[in-house]
Amino acid sequence: MEHYVIKGGTPLSGEVPIAGAKNAALAILAAAIMADEPVTIENVPDVSDIRAIVGAVEEIGAAVSHPDRHTYVINGAGIRNEPVDTEAVRKIRGSYYLIGALLGKYKQATVALPGGCNIGLRPIDQHIKGFRALGATVRVAPPGLVEAKAENLVGSHIYMDVVSVGATINIIMAACLAKGNTIIENAAKEPHVVDLANFLNSMGARIRGAGTDVIRIRGVEHLHGTEYSIIPDQIEAGTFMYAAAATRGDVTITNVIPKHLECLTAKLIEAGCEVTESDDSVRVVASKRLTHTNVKTLPYPGFPTDMQPQISVLLGLAKGTSIVTESIFENRFKYVDELVKMGAQMRVEGNTAIIEGVERYTGANLRAPDLRAGAALVIAALSAQGYSEVYDIHYIERGYEDFPEKMRRLGACIAKVDSAEEERKAVNSFNLKVVNG
Ligand code: UD1
Repeated sequence: MEHYVIKGGTPLSGEVPIAGAKNAALAILAAAIMADEPVTIENVPDVSDIRAIVGAVEEIGAAVSHPDRHTYVINGAGIRNEPVDTEAVRKIRGSYYLIGALLGKYKQATVALPGGCNIGLRPIDQHIKGFRALGATVRVAPPGLVEAKAENLVGSHIYMDVVSVGATINIIMAACLAKGNTIIENAAKEPHVVDLANFLNSMGARIRGAGTDVIRIRGVEHLHGTEYSIIPDQIEAGTFMYAAAATRGDVTITNVIPKHLECLTAKLIEAGCEVTESDDSVRVVASKRLTHTNVKTLPYPGFPTDMQPQISVLLGLAKGTSIVTESIFENRFKYVDELVKMGAQMRVEGNTAIIEGVERYTGANLRAPDLRAGAALVIAALSAQGYSEVYDIHYIERGYEDFPEKMRRLGACIAKVDSAEEERKAVNSFNLKVVNG
């Protein structure tokens, strides 16, 4: 079975470029089908979630070309507005964006309920509330299909009961082709909400206020083709920042927007790292053992839930007791048992992890329970003494492009292997590398 084999203990050093934001790309690739002209999208990360959404838009009749690894050209002119229900669609969370896109464009959408990482209940009541406010009838029909349709979509004043990235994006998409004005209050402010709004505006939409908690949308008749480049991935950048810190390394993370990383940077500085920012890069230097701190996940600009496992790994190595509180998803501490196998001293009480820092982790056989926790376990293994194996890496590949390759370029001993023979060869090469320096 495919897995990573890792020899820990090498401080990461060097430069690593960050790919385009997966979560922005999922929304933007879905929104692209709203035009009947070619839409060129650049800086799309090459990860399996993206391949799934591209597969889904192709299946419903969009013309898709892929002129290079990170660029897609999508033309939604040929879409057959049939039910969207394939294995690929059910696998990824981001396929619910097809509801907003199709409902906006055709006033009708039937899409399979979203899958994604099993990190909590993940209801879609706020999406449905928004579509209904715009005049759609929505029902969830067996077998797990969401059906939304409207004679006419009409702008509305919508107050979101919870701050939801997905619902905010979905309502923006439907509302930008509704008649009249929509106001979304208590909207999500994540960078990818802003990126989606900028993208739609470049197609002729009229969206103002994205990045604040009140978004105003003036409906337009139709959207046209555009060329757009996706923002860098905040979470991939944060993952490499925290990997640098956990291995006591010195890494410059390039092609980032430092503003999007502010709360991640602030926590690293609090824990005793040096972080220097330039226009489009951040350098993380961890020359000594970190100290404890407390973290609570919150909607942007708060600490992202998608970085919670990675910071817990870091704090598991810091001096003193840290408290990590998860306030977004109910089921996001599944990695703790794996870390305990590595010698971590952590326990979970409700939505809180209590972490007593240890000097070092030791290598172990690990299973990635979900995408971000999988990346966090790789960080733990890179900082540990000895060898680890990480299984279920398909989760990690959903959201990280060339993860082991990028880590290797920073000096890490990590390889993706699929047999005992490949593993033996990888371990030999790690040992040679250590001998040769
Ligand atoms: C997106 C991200 C995910 C990230 C999350 C929070 C994508 C594809 N995924 O997920 O990586 O962890 O934002 O930053 O972009 N909620 C409701 N009702 C709803 C919708 C959400 O109660 O209709 C709740 C959720 O259960 C959760 C909270 O709102 O507790 C935030 O969820 P949301 O922001 O919607 O997350 P996603 O868009 O699913």
